[in-house]
Amino acid sequence: MSLDIVITKYKAQLQALLPSSEVEYELSTETPIKFTDSENVKLSFACIADTHFSKKEYLAHNVENCFKDIFNSNEKFDALLMAGDIAELGKKGEYKRFFEVFDTYKDKLKLFITMGNHDVRLQYGRNQKIIMNKVNEYLNIDTNKKSYYSYDLNGYTFIVIGTEKRVLEKAYISKEQIEFLRKELERATKDNKPAFVMCHQAFAFTHGLPEVWKTGDMGEQSDEVRAVMEQFKNVFFINGHLHGGVFEKTFEVLNEENGVYSLSVPGYRKPNNFGITDLGVGYIGEVYDDKIIFKARNFVEGKNIDSEFAEYTIGLK
Ligand SMILES: [Fe+2]
Repeated sequence: MSLDIVITKYKAQLQALLPSSEVEYELSTETPIKFTDSENVKLSFACIADTHFSKKEYLAHNVENCFKDIFNSNEKFDALLMAGDIAELGKKGEYKRFFEVFDTYKDKLKLFITMGNHDVRLQYGRNQKIIMNKVNEYLNIDTNKKSYYSYDLNGYTFIVIGTEKRVLEKAYISKEQIEFLRKELERATKDNKPAFVMCHQAFAFTHGLPEVWKTGDMGEQSDEVRAVMEQFKNVFFINGHLHGGVFEKTFEVLNEENGVYSLSVPGYRKPNNFGITDLGVGYIGEVYDDKIIFKARNFVEGKNIDSEFAEYTIGLK
C-alpha cells in the first residue's frame, strides 16, 4: 500500500471519530462580542458566507445563532453581509428556509446579500429574481432587475457585485457592472471614507488561489475588476466561496499604496480547509474614523477565535 493511501485511510478514520458537524450548535452567552472602542465606532457589521442551505433542519438553527450572538452583545451592529452561496442546490425551499431566518431580523439590521455559484448554477433566472427581490425588500431599494447594487449606511457605502449569468463556479461581470463599480467607488471614497465591496468570488491568485481551490477565482473579469478597485483609496473587498478558514491567507493586501484589501470569509455551513477550520465562523468589521478592525468570531457557538490571523487593524489612508 502506498504512503498516500495509508495517509488518506488514516485521515478518513480520524474524520469518522470526530463528532459530526451536522448538528445544532449550542450558543454560549459567556463571551459576548466586544468592540475595541464601542464609543467611537462609526459603523459595524458582521460578515458570513456559504451557508449552503439544504433540507437539513439544523442549518436554520445554526444560522440563527449568528443573529442571536450579535444581539447577545451590548454592541450596536448596523449590518450583516452574506457573501453568497445561500443555498446548496438552489431549490425554492432552500431559499424559503434561509429567508425565514433572515426575515426575522430584517428590521434590526441592514442585510446585504449576493449570489454565489451554487445559487445560480442550475437556475440562473429564477434564483436571481428570488435573491434580488429580497435585496429590494430588505434595503427598500430598486435594483432594477440587475445583479448588483450599492447602499449607503452611516455615511459609508457598500457595493455588492454579482454574476450576470451562469458560468459554472465563476462570475460574469459585464462592462456595465464594472463601470457601475468604478462610479460608485469614486463617489464612496471622495471624502476619504472607506468603501466596502462584496462579491462571492475572490480575485485570481489571492487567498492562496489556485492551490486552495482550483477553480475558485472570479473568472475572466477578475483582473479588470481588481484594477478598478485598486484605483481608489481604502477599499475593502469581502468575498467567500473558498472555505479557507482562519489562516495566513484569509486577509490580504491588494494595493499597499492605496490601502485596498481583500477578506476571504470562511464558509459557515461546513468545517473549513485551513488553519482554524471551525464552521459557523465569520468576521466582524468595526469602522472608526482612522481605522478598521476585522475580528474573526465563531458565531455559531458564541466564542472568539484564538489565532494570530483572527484580528486585523488597518489604518486608513
Ligand atoms: Fe461558492
